[in-house]
This record gives sequence, structure tokens and C-alpha cells, in this order.
Amino acid sequence: MSKREELTKVEQEIKSHQDLPLMSGCTQVVFGEGDPEAQIMFIGEAPGYWEDQKGRPFVGNAGQLLDKFIESIGLKRSQVYITNVVKCRPPQNRDPEPSEIEAYAPYLNKQIEIIQPKIIVTLGRFSMNKFLPKAKISEVHGQPRRINGIIVIPMFHPAAALRSTSVMEAAKKDFQVIKQVLADPESVLETSTKESKERESDPNQMPLF
Ligand code: URA
Repeated sequence: MSKREELTKVEQEIKSHQDLPLMSGCTQVVFGEGDPEAQIMFIGEAPGYWEDQKGRPFVGNAGQLLDKFIESIGLKRSQVYITNVVKCRPPQNRDPEPSEIEAYAPYLNKQIEIIQPKIIVTLGRFSMNKFLPKAKISEVHGQPRRINGIIVIPMFHPAAALRSTSVMEAAKKDFQVIKQVLADPESVLETSTKESKERESDPNQMPLF
């Protein structure tokens, strides 16, 4: 089975579970889209109004900014894979609850397993928390680290960049880190924090996916 076919199977699995949280209140499932062979996977928070309407991730204002950020590193949206931690829109765009994130985690994990990206870029604190449960985004943004063999780069959510000029400047800079990681991962990872190195070598660390 091709990666695309495997992803379609996971999408159908979600759609067949109508009892998943948020499912009854959303217009449609927003599974994710992009190149199944992508080297880079972006993980956001949850679908918003436009994503819920169109069934595609990051197509509203935050999505348009994400597209610009992706283009700023010489890539097209079609060359990466984009998804969210939860696949249905929370009412009034509220934050997803821990139980909702947990319910959708097996599907996100399957997406990661199928795509096997070299780099995962987390957008905002909810997807960051999946990989770095104790981290503060203001402290770790733009710092790549290797987690379970994948380079994870935590970044600010584009919606936060739209609200604050300083976050916008930081986000623009952080995006350039992706370019550096693609060109020479080892040299960038060498500068990664001591905390992340300790985390990687901790034998008691639970596998994340
Ligand atoms: N914000 C997200 O986190 N994801 C989307 O798909 C859109 C907005």
C-alpha cells in the first residue's frame, strides 16, 4: 500500500468513529494534507472556522501566513505535510481539552508513522506539548532537538504572530532554522539545549509515538 493509501485508510477510520469528541459539533473532519513523502510535517492545534468549512488545514488567516513562511524558505505548501493535533473544530474555536487531544493522538501518531518526516515543526503550545510536555514556548521556540529519531522544531503558532509584532519577528527568524536543519542538521543540533540532550538519553523516557 502506498503512503497516500495508508493515510486515506486512517482518514476513513476517523470518519467512521462518529463518537470521537468534537465530531458531533463540527462540519467535517480536517484530516491533513500535503505530500505523503514530505520531509517536513507541520502540526497545528485544531481546525478553525474556515478549515471546518473547507475540510483543509490552515486555510484561514493563520494559514495564509503559514503559506508565506513556507515560501520564505523556498518551499511550496504542496511539498510539505500539514495537520493538527485534533481533527475537528472545537466550538467557538476554544482550546482543545486534554481528553480531546488524547482521543485524536492515535491518528496523529499513525500519520507520523506513515509519513516518517525528517522534521516535525510544532505550531503553538498544544502540538509542542506532545513532544516537550514541560517546555515553555517562549523559551524553546526555534530550537531543534532530536526526539525518537525525528528533528522537532517548536515554533510559535502563526495566529500568535498575527497578534504580536515581536512574535512575528521571532517566527520569521525561527522559520529560517528549518532551512539550516535541512542543509546541515548535525551542526544545528549541536547547539541544541542541554535539557533536550538529557531528555534523549533518559532511559525512563516514555516513547511518544
Ligand atoms: N489553526 C490551527 O492550529 N490549525 C488550523 O488548521 C487552522 C488554524
